[in-house]
Amino acid sequence: MNVNTENVSYPRKFKTFNNPERFIEGWYWVIPSRKLRVGEVKPVTILGRELVIYRGQDRRAVIFDAYCPHMGAHLAEGKVEGNELRCFFHHWQYDSEGFCVHIPCLDEPLPVKAKAWPTAEKYGMIWVWTGETPQQPLPFIPELEIDDCESTFGARFITKCHPNVVMINAIDAQHFNTVHKMLSEFNFEKQELNENAITFSNTTQDSPDSFLIKLIRPFYKNPVTYSLCYWYGSTGMVTVGPEFLHFYIMFTLRLIEGGKAEGQAIFITKKRPSIFGRIYNRFLLWLTKILAQYFIKNDSKIFDTIQFNLKTPIQADQSITQFINHLERQKPLKWGTWNLERYPRSDELSRDGETRDIDKRETRDKWHDELVND
Ligand code: FES
Ligand SMILES: [Fe+2]
Repeated sequence: MNVNTENVSYPRKFKTFNNPERFIEGWYWVIPSRKLRVGEVKPVTILGRELVIYRGQDRRAVIFDAYCPHMGAHLAEGKVEGNELRCFFHHWQYDSEGFCVHIPCLDEPLPVKAKAWPTAEKYGMIWVWTGETPQQPLPFIPELEIDDCESTFGARFITKCHPNVVMINAIDAQHFNTVHKMLSEFNFEKQELNENAITFSNTTQDSPDSFLIKLIRPFYKNPVTYSLCYWYGSTGMVTVGPEFLHFYIMFTLRLIEGGKAEGQAIFITKKRPSIFGRIYNRFLLWLTKILAQYFIKNDSKIFDTIQFNLKTPIQADQSITQFINHLERQKPLKWGTWNLERYPRSDELSRDGETRDIDKRETRDKWHDELVND
């Protein structure tokens, strides 16, 4: 490996990557769809913000801020009536956009509104967009973008490190050999799908000794696909397998208190018609689960103890630095409030050391970006 010694003592500070106070505006998983029946309302805390989620008669999942705009009662104590939610305390009623539509002691409701958040369902999961209007689609696997899918869930998990750090594991080329003993070279090509999504696709031919090749050698001799699609720096979709049979694994994470992460693995396949298609899909999703376990075996040790600090990036870490640069260009929000986080422009700062620090960082970032050919 070719260590770039000039870079050894480079004290790079990331604004958003691995920051326990920040996350990217985007779609985040809330609860599995099957855990919210029609007429149910539940409290949820997502990225530090307290919310309520309910499902009306129209089967739509709706998410509001947790506390009633009248006097602050928790709306999860309330009741779903039709497509609306009625507060337990004084029975003010809110429609699915959050507008107050009924106050029992008044002839007319007041123009007040519970804060509602964009909500959607996909892959058996309910998702929330953490801004006013969704700017991007729900996370999808590029080659399944237009397909109807079936999915099953793996275990829900907690890691002691930040979601961004968990994400880069899947494109950490060196660790495939050292941790997973894959004995295979990885060389990723990146492609930005949009402001919030980036793919990394392996371009190398597998060595004859790799685990996957061994597994499928009796059936197939061509290179195996291994690609990642990342959304909002917190959801990673793995596509793996020979050309005739791709497996899809999603790891979707949210930042929790203390810079830790809570995540969910979801195994996905294309919907297939008929009873045979459904049986085949059960089998495929079971196989996908086995494959996912193989991928994450031994990684938990790393996630439990790592103090991430990429002090010495080398050529083999290029995909990681590309992921970080992609993340740093996205819109950061503050954990807990979901307010926009922004670094002041240098012309907004006083003429003290802070200005010089900002300028210095910009120059260094530029230099670093060039170094990794991003
Ligand atoms: S606090 Fe909800 S109606 Fe009064
Ligand atoms: Fe790994």
